[in-house]
Amino acid sequence: MKARALLDVDDLAAEELVRVLDLSELSDPPAVLRGQGVALLFEKPSARTRNSTEMAVVQLGGHPVSLRGDEVGLDERETAEDLARTLAQYHAALGARVFDHTVLERIAAAVDVPVVNLLSDRAHPLQALADLLTLRQRLGSLEGRVVAWVGDGNNVCQSLMLAGCLAGAEVRVACPDGYQPAPPAVERAAALGGRVTVTEDPAEAVRGADAVCTDVWTSMGQEDERATRRQRFEPYRVDGSLLARAAPGAVFLHCLPAHRGEEVTGEVIDGPQSAVWQQAANRMHTARGLLLWLFGG
Ligand code: CP
Ligand code: NVA
Repeated sequence: MKARALLDVDDLAAEELVRVLDLSELSDPPAVLRGQGVALLFEKPSARTRNSTEMAVVQLGGHPVSLRGDEVGLDERETAEDLARTLAQYHAALGARVFDHTVLERIAAAVDVPVVNLLSDRAHPLQALADLLTLRQRLGSLEGRVVAWVGDGNNVCQSLMLAGCLAGAEVRVACPDGYQPAPPAVERAAALGGRVTVTEDPAEAVRGADAVCTDVWTSMGQEDERATRRQRFEPYRVDGSLLARAAPGAVFLHCLPAHRGEEVTGEVIDGPQSAVWQQAANRMHTARGLLLWLFGG
């Protein structure tokens, strides 16, 4: 039987998402991966995803093996499918961080073990699980709450839109023209029960919001666009005056890595409304919760 995959958040139904978050908070998880391996493939750099997922595997009794794209020659030394089929002979699950989301789809189609997206150009579902758990811990139920996004509308934003809508929140996204979430991602989010709006005006998105979230202006692989992006995103910096337009005590989230003085000021990310360290810690808890759910915990 084909195993469940997590290529994006909407691979989970709303009640499954709640179950994964509940499992993430289990204090004494069963060793569902005892004696088993999980292969984690990285085509791009990673600090949080690699370490949090490796430790989640360890906490479930398993053994993580992280691989760089260039050491296995993904689609060069052999096809992604052949590599995935080989790794699936040794490992109970595969994870991959890829430039091109369709490579993940090919990997998931080639194997019967669970495949988890560790970030692609389209999505970052493990990040969205941690974001949602952090918001749930800070705000309680997200039903009817307002989650604002300010910045680039790519992978992290698109998965947070899906997660927020799946949890019944209203998601308001503010991005410069040309950097907004892909229309199919907005349509998928809108179909999930929450409400999603996209604007170019950060103040409009943030007004009265319960959470304000952002991400880097230049994603991995886009380094040659950095100068243009700095200009285009300048009005989208989350600073004290923008955050003051949100609800009193609104939570600030950033997936990290962060660039103080670009997408966020030090005053905000290091200030009292910031939950970024709780959010980073939750990367491990939610990776463990997801694996627990995938392996029947
Ligand atoms: N937030 C996140 O995915 O961080 P890394 O790129 O360091 O894994
Ligand atoms: N949007 C960023 C997220 C990093 C975790 C990137 O893709 O580089």
